[in-house]
Amino acid sequence: MVRMRCATWWPLIAFLLTRTFAQRAVPTACEDDACRCDSFTRLICHCTREYEELTLRPDGAYRVPSTATAIIIEGCERVIFLSDTIRNLIQLRTIELKNVGYVVISERALAWSPYPRDSEIDPGISIKIINSTVNEISSYAIQGHINDILISDSKMITLKPYAFSSLTGVKNIELTNNVFKNVEIQAFKKFTTANFIMRGGEAKTLPSRFVSDVEVTNLFRIEGVNIDTLSSLTFLVSLPKRVLIENNIIRVLEGDSFHITSRGPVTFRNNTVSNISKGAFFGFTVDREVLSVAGRQELLIDNNTMSTVMPSSLVYNQTTLSRRIDGLNLNAKCSCRLAEEWREVLSEQGGIVNCWYDLEGHYISLPTFVDSRCGSFKQTFWIFVVVGILFVTLIAAIVIFFIVRRENEKKKKVQIVLPDGKTYRETEFHIVVERAELLTTDL
Ligand SMILES: *[C@@H]1O[C@H](CO)[C@@H](O)[C@H](O)[C@H]1NC(C)=O
Ligand SMILES: *[C@@H]1O[C@H](CO)[C@@H](O)[C@H](O)[C@H]1NC(C)=O
Ligand SMILES: *[C@@H]1O[C@H](CO)[C@@H](O)[C@H](O)[C@H]1NC(C)=O
Ligand SMILES: *[C@@H]1O[C@H](CO)[C@@H](O)[C@H](O)[C@H]1NC(C)=O
Ligand SMILES: *[C@@H]1O[C@H](CO)[C@@H](O)[C@H](O)[C@H]1NC(C)=O
Repeated sequence: MVRMRCATWWPLIAFLLTRTFAQRAVPTACEDDACRCDSFTRLICHCTREYEELTLRPDGAYRVPSTATAIIIEGCERVIFLSDTIRNLIQLRTIELKNVGYVVISERALAWSPYPRDSEIDPGISIKIINSTVNEISSYAIQGHINDILISDSKMITLKPYAFSSLTGVKNIELTNNVFKNVEIQAFKKFTTANFIMRGGEAKTLPSRFVSDVEVTNLFRIEGVNIDTLSSLTFLVSLPKRVLIENNIIRVLEGDSFHITSRGPVTFRNNTVSNISKGAFFGFTVDREVLSVAGRQELLIDNNTMSTVMPSSLVYNQTTLSRRIDGLNLNAKCSCRLAEEWREVLSEQGGIVNCWYDLEGHYISLPTFVDSRCGSFKQTFWIFVVVGILFVTLIAAIVIFFIVRRENEKKKKVQIVLPDGKTYRETEFHIVVERAELLTTDL
């Protein structure tokens, strides 16, 4: 009886055993020491030991299982995505890296286009990189149907050309508090996103065509970033409804850095720019359709501090934009010559341009300075004042000279030699006279 039951069960047991052996032979990333796969088929890796390295691969042992819905990695020393890692992970929705010391994303590692004809309703992937050092994002590393790319508090050592390219269905690209080291040209190339936001953090040189042929359909915003150099044509962007460039510190802003065809107003507010080249704002223009329907859009240059700046730095496309300059602090000493340079801008703008007033150590409005110090009358007035003071001083000097000389001559005249042979000076004179009178009466 028992033997018979065993016999009937045997094939099933054998089947289960072989399957387990097969799995043992080709383990997936779920079997990696640092990782597990949960009931939602998410691959979750928590490196706890130091110097733990994780390589994500599309096939072979420790491949990412094809059922993975998410790849979540935290705290590893090194994480390397090999080429085509996610290409066949049709259920994947999220990739999240956090606190990783060294990340390499190889060519096409995060390329994902499972649907032949992309449409808005098809699901996409969200990529998050937080508090990590990204050593390299290779060319074509990130492609396809990616909904969101959020990178924050991270160090980006090398971004290769076309690192983010040919993306579809993108809603947000948000780069927050990152340090960009070596950014190569066309790192963001040819795609459409609703929002492109760079906020906080710092960058050395952002090269020409850092963001190239990118359509931003809603908001383009660069905020609170400390940038060494913005090269010309750094941002080649079209279609944003709103362009906001705020609270940045930019050492060198080259001409035409922002080559942006907007569908709405452009605001450049509260930035500190040390060296701003000719035509720095000349790249802003307005989409033809919007221009014909809504007219010229406003280019607002508000509350900025600029050091090396000329009026030609602020030229703009007059056919598509109307410019308003307000609260512009020229980091230069007030002078009538400076006022003369800015006269045209001042007369055209209602707004306020300030210069540094050395005597009091703060900014004052250039027109106020002009009113009190400049203009042909004011300048000749000050010349009159100076000449007048010199003239009065000269007269006074001459008068004093003559008085002193006369006094000296008087002293010489009143010196008297008396019979006793002594010389008596002015102070003794009266006494001497009295005595002389006495003498005469006695005789
Ligand atoms: C950021 O990541 C490093 C390891 O790369 C870790 O030591 C640190 O605690 C993390 N910071 C935060 C705020 O999570
Ligand atoms: C203006 O920008 C500076 C940085 O340049 C920032 O510290 C400050 O908070 C900003 N002010 C406002 C009102 O946003
Ligand atoms: C401003 O930048 C230009 C070009 O980058 C450079 O030639 C010039 O010397 C700079 N001027 C100052 C005052 O830094
Ligand atoms: C204007 O700029 C100054 C100097 O950068 C800053 O302190 C102030 O907060 C700014 N105000 C606004 C309204 O942005
Ligand atoms: C202003 O922008 C329009 C539309 O982009 C362009 O055709 C025109 O050449 C620009 N004007 C100048 C002076 O560059």
